[in-house]
Order: sequence, then C-alpha cells, then structure tokens
Amino acid sequence: MHQLNLLLAAVLYTAALSSAAAIPQPPISTPILPPQTTQDNNPTPQLPYGVVLNNCTIPNTIAIAFDDGPYIYTEQVLDILANASIHATFFLNGNWKGNIDELSHVVKRTFAEGHQIGSHSWSHLNLTTLPYNTILTEMTTLESAFLRILGFFPTYTRTPWLHVNELVLTALADLRYHVIGANIVTDDKELEKF
Ligand SMILES: *[C@@H]1O[C@H](CO)[C@@H](O)[C@H](O)[C@H]1NC(C)=O
Ligand SMILES: *[C@@H]1O[C@H](CO)[C@@H](O)[C@H](O)[C@H]1NC(C)=O
Ligand SMILES: *[C@@H]1O[C@H](CO)[C@@H](O)[C@H](O)[C@H]1NC(C)=O
Ligand SMILES: [Zn+2]
Repeated sequence: MHQLNLLLAAVLYTAALSSAAAIPQPPISTPILPPQTTQDNNPTPQLPYGVVLNNCTIPNTIAIAFDDGPYIYTEQVLDILANASIHATFFLNGNWKGNIDELSHVVKRTFAEGHQIGSHSWSHLNLTTLPYNTILTEMTTLESAFLRILGFFPTYTRTPWLHVNELVLTALADLRYHVIGANIVTDDKELEKF
C-alpha cells in the first residue's frame, strides 16, 4: 500500500515536471528556508514529511519516546534503559526545562548509548499559536544547537503537547520533518504534582 502511494506520487511528479517544461510557469513565491547542509544521521525518506505518524511501521513492536529533556532526570532514565537494554527516542528541547548547551554532555551520552534523538522545538511554545516564520525559527534554532553538539540534526519531531494545525504541518513539511504523534500517552508528567 505504502509502495503504491510512493509509486503514484512518482508518476504524478513526473507528469507535473513534463507539463512544467511545456508551459512556462509564473514564479511561485516559496518561503526562504535555512540551508540544510547536514542531514539526519539516519534519514528515512520513505516516510512522509509533515504528516502526523502515530503507528509503528513494524508490526508487533512498540516505540518508547520521552519528551522535554535534556533535564536533571534524563541520566537516570538513561541508566534504567541501559540496564534493560532498551533503546528509546528522546524528543529534546533547546531551552525549556533545561538548557541544551549547559546539558550538552547529556545529549551526547543519549546519542552515544544508541538512542534516537528528535526535536521537540527550541522553547516548547504552543506552535499552533505562532506565525509561519516563528515556527521555522523554533525548529532551526534547535537544529543549530544539535549541529554544535552532535554534528547533525534530526529530521524527526514531536511538537509540544502534540499540538499541530495546518500551518505547523506545512512549516514542518517545508523543513522536511517526520512528525511523530503517539497512540499511548502515559501521563507520567502528572506525577510531578504529587
Ligand atoms: C494506528 O493504530 C491505531 C491503534 O492504536 C489504529 O486504530 C489505526 O488504524 C492505525 N493507523 C494506521 C494508519 O495503521
Ligand atoms: C538493573 O537491573 C537489575 C536486575 O534487573 C536491578 O536489580 C537493578 O536495580 C537495575 N538497576 C537500575 C539502575 O535500574
Ligand atoms: C495551544 O493553542 C491552541 C489554539 O489556541 C489551544 O487550543 C490549546 O489549548 C493551546 N495549548 C496549550 C497547552 O496552551
Ligand atoms: Zn513537551
């Protein structure tokens, strides 16, 4: 099914290209995107960009993901995961609970221990309330930090509070992000209240 969709997309794209060659097209105003010189270290071009993905692609598997770090609890989580030989995804912020540059050793350790790094935006704003350019800045500021710390930036993101709207998904597609949702939310953050 997925391959069929890809094939169809390829056919439509080819058709669009040949008609573009035949008929001169008016200039389209495209957003000015920051240069993407360094790709994800593990790109997944077969997955769509700017579409919320809630399901694992491999049947009978689960994917565990943690949001909001790096923070003072992250290393404890890393210890527990290492002890259990489990790899997870960490959707990190730049400046939210902790500051990513001050905790860069935690980011490096997370990656070195085989976990997937994802983006949870720079400062955990409600992206659905922001204009297009601010959404881009929330993502690209964190990209720069990842480049400084890890030498690459991820192409996977989970948005703060899992909030998306059409503009957010458009911006994330323009930046070529795979958008990850969830189909089980553990609400472990509620424990902070006790
Ligand atoms: C994703 O999983 C949910 C159950 O959690 C299921 O209802 C849904 O159909 C699945 N979607 C796809 C695209 O497989
Ligand atoms: C590691 O696992 C062992 C046995 O499964 C357990 O006794 C120990 O408490 C665990 N340590 C941590 C840090 O989770
Ligand atoms: C984010 O903004 C949307 C749209 O105004 C609103 O519905 C939602 O409750 C907000 N979420 C948070 C956590 O503030
Ligand atoms: Zn969050």
